[in-house]
Formats: sequence, C-alpha cells, structure tokens
Amino acid sequence: MNLITRSYNTAPSRRRARARHLAAALLLAACSGSTEETETAASATDGDESTGTSDASSDASAGSSTSSGDETATSSTSETTGEPTEDAAITYHRDVRPVLAQRCLQCHADGKIAPFPLTTYDEVFELRELVALTVLNRQMPPWLAAPDCNNYEGDPTLPQETIDMIEAWVADGAPEGDPGDFVEPPAPPSEELPRVDVELTIPEPYTPQGTTDDYRCFILDWPEQGDAYVTGFRAVPGAIEEVHHAIAFAIPPSKLPEYEALDAASPGSGYECFGGPGGEINDPEDAGIWLGVWVPGAAPALYPEGTGLRIEPGSKVVLQLHYNIPPGGAVPDTSTVQFRIEPTVAREAFMMLWADIAWLQGDMQIPAGAPSTTHVWEFDPTSIMSFLTDIIPSNVPIELHSAAHHMHTLGVRGQHSIRRAVGDDTCLLDIPRWDFNWQGSFKFSQPITFYPTDRLRLECEYDNSGGAGDVNWGDGTSDEMCLGVYYVTEVE
Ligand code: HEC
Repeated sequence: MNLITRSYNTAPSRRRARARHLAAALLLAACSGSTEETETAASATDGDESTGTSDASSDASAGSSTSSGDETATSSTSETTGEPTEDAAITYHRDVRPVLAQRCLQCHADGKIAPFPLTTYDEVFELRELVALTVLNRQMPPWLAAPDCNNYEGDPTLPQETIDMIEAWVADGAPEGDPGDFVEPPAPPSEELPRVDVELTIPEPYTPQGTTDDYRCFILDWPEQGDAYVTGFRAVPGAIEEVHHAIAFAIPPSKLPEYEALDAASPGSGYECFGGPGGEINDPEDAGIWLGVWVPGAAPALYPEGTGLRIEPGSKVVLQLHYNIPPGGAVPDTSTVQFRIEPTVAREAFMMLWADIAWLQGDMQIPAGAPSTTHVWEFDPTSIMSFLTDIIPSNVPIELHSAAHHMHTLGVRGQHSIRRAVGDDTCLLDIPRWDFNWQGSFKFSQPITFYPTDRLRLECEYDNSGGAGDVNWGDGTSDEMCLGVYYVTEVE
C-alpha cells in the first residue's frame, strides 16, 4: 500500500487527509506484523525453588497469609487433618485449582487456543515451574495492561496474594491435597454475547496456507435493510486452535466493488489481506468502519450502554482472520462472526484512531542498533473533531470508553494518557511489556471525559538493537507503528 507517501495539496483536503491517514493507520495496523514470539521477561525469577527445603511452619505461614482476601483462592485454614503442620499447607485442590478454573481453563483445556491443557493435577504438576514463572512475571493470564493506571472491565489480573500463593505452593513441592476441598469458583466472564441478532459465517471452509501465519479476509453479506447500530461483536472461530485474532470492518455500499474485485481475483475462498481489509486499495477512506477486534479467551466486545457504531444498509462486512498455523498443520476453518444490533442508539459512537501525522509521513525513525527509541505525541483531538468524524462537532467535551494500543514486533512499551489543561493528568492505558500476539481493546470501567484544550498523549518505545536496518512507519512485518484506538462519544 502506498498510503503513507500520498501527498495532499489543498488545505481542506490536508485536514481530511489527517482523518483519512488516521483511518488508514488502523487498517494497516489491524493485523500486520509477524507473530514471532516475544521474549519472555523471565529475568525476575531464577527459580529452582521446588528443591527448596522450606519447613512446615514457614509453609503454614505462607499459606495463611496468602489466601486471605483473595477472591479467587478459597481460604479454608480451619480444616485439620490431624497433622497440625499440614493445617494450612497450600494444596492444588483447595487453593490452586479454583484459580486455574477461573483464570486459565478457558484457554488451557482441550480444544482451546492454548497449546496444552491445565485441567488435571498431573498436567499442572508437570508444568508447575512454568506455571509459577508465568504468573509471577504476569505473562499469564494474557493481559497487557498494567494494574496501576486505570480500571478495566473483565480485567483477569491475578492479585499479588494469589501469585505469591502459587509460588509458595510450587516451592512446597506442589502438593495435591484432597479433591473434596475443591470449591467451584465464580464462573469466568462469558465469551457469549448476551443476544445475537446477526450471525455471518465465512462462505466455505478455508484451510490456511503457508507454514506459520495466514491473514485472510472474507466478504460477508450484511442482511439488515435499515440503519443498524452495532452494539456488540464477537468472533466464533471454527478451528479454535488456529484462529489467533479476528477483526471486523463494515464496508459501505459505494466502496464494495473494489473489495469484490479483490475477492474475485483471488482463487479459493476470501483473499489475502495482510494490512487491513484489502490489499491494494489505495484510498484509506475505502477501508470502512472498524467494528471490533476479537482475541481468544476474551469476553465479547460490548459497547457502552446506549451507544453503537452505525452500519449503512447495503454494506458488507469484511472479516479479517489471522491464522496461526498449529505445529500439526492447518485444518479447515469455518469461522462465524456475531453481532448484537439496535435500530437506534442514544449516542452514535466513533472509533478514533490516534497517531502523529508526521509519523505516517516518515518521521518515526527507529535507528538500527538502538536498544531504546521512544516516540511521543500529544494533541487535542476535540480541536479537529469535525474533521475526524461527522457525528461529533469540534471543541466539545468527549467521552473515551476504551483504548487499544498497536505496535508491531519491535515495540516494547506503550502508554496513553490525558494531559489535563486543569488538574491532574489521567492515565488511560499503560502497557509495560508489549506482546503483538495479545493486543486487544481495554474497556474502561467508567467512561473518561476529555475536555477541549486537554491533550491526548501517546507514547511508544521500541528496541531495534538486533536490527540490521533503520525502521520507520509502515504496514510490513519489518515496519513499525504507534497507534491509539479509542471508542468515542459525545458526553451524555
Ligand atoms: C486467553 C487465553 C489464555 C489464558 C486465559 C491463559 N493462557 Fe496460558 N497460554 C495461552 C497461550 C495461547 C499460550 C501459548 C503461548 C502464547 O501464545 O503466549 C499460553 C502459554 C502458557 C504457558 C507456557 C508459557 C511459555 O513460555 O511456554 C504457561 C505455563 C501458561 N500459559 C499458564 C497459564 C496459567 C497458569 C494461566 C492462568 C493463570 C493461563 N496460562 C491463562 C493462553 C492463555
């Protein structure tokens, strides 16, 4: 795509261009980059602690202090087995299993996305060191947002007490305990939409191609005859072990022929779409409306009450699927995408894409060999709002409901905040350890108001120490991006 190098001549079109560039940026960003494993930050622990020789009394104190106040680990230190020293020992069935049931098994079970199950004592025992390590360094459950910045719906972050408890359990030799001690924890958040109004399935089974990754787009008919507002979205992968993420775009009727041509020119079902919903389409305006991203194990995207993203009648949905081909080889997939819709909403929402226009024009250098390069941008989006969208005027307060961060594989850290004209700054999203494979959208527990003259600040850090060449903005696997994506409405 040559979106980045397009030049604009007149002032008004420059303004439009900004909006278009921002729109383009997301599309380019949507699913590009390689899925090369990000390095595990394992340095914090050096743990061959299972061979440690902690005595019963220190175990007991670890057990009793760690299980209190933890919503996921059941505390039942009162039960005795006749052996006073075992009284408070941490066991699999009583302490660890409820945590895994609530925070791990939606992925670590047969037929789910994770590469191995953690459903039985033997399975967990076998991997206990790795389990302790990944919870300790907060690699699992996958959730990129740091805890001390903002509050999010569906945040699966384990409390520190639970992490300490799992570590102590492993250090104590990972005892099984009594199956009768297991107490079923509250269910994890449902992966289902509360209501499904539209369900679209890819036209025929598709077997991913290549050896590692395949990015494929499918055009699906949008059946609604009138205006419809999408208020919730979810992908239902056919072959769950190979669908790593899904993004849905709504394409308005005027833009459809270009997409249909892409589909027609490509043999088999769908077409390749590495950067966005369409390979060679040059006008970012053609790219449609970004409806949502789905990642495995996550709750569905449910937009805030009374808000939604409008889809014009006659539109179609482009579903982009990122297939991560399993070691055993690709299998045919028949994925489905589900929507909850409403005929009207109180407030129409808009997906705002945020990046410095200068970056898109080539001013985002990440020099070869540099271990740390940081790019920062801050600006007031309300001052240009009417250029970004038709639905919100400029210079009025807006509400931000969610934030998503996007970089490719050199990205190591990202931060989003509001620099207040009056009062303390507001942290929106802090990603201390970026992982391309687990990007998602973070829905704020409470909408955050942004006032005209505040500034929306975006920061991205990269590590190009191993790189042979300089890197800049672009949609290829060897290019980089720094993008914020926000679900925005007017203030109620
Ligand atoms: C949203 C799905 C999901 C959830 C929830 C999840 N995992 Fe994982 N886990 C994965 C996937 C997928 C992998 C494979 C590596 C990757 O893609 O990051 C993985 C890898 C792992 C690994 C191997 C890491 C490595 O470096 O090889 C361990 C251990 C693990 N998970 C433990 C857990 C534990 C313990 C929990 C709960 C506290 C948990 N996971 C929750 C999806 C999940």
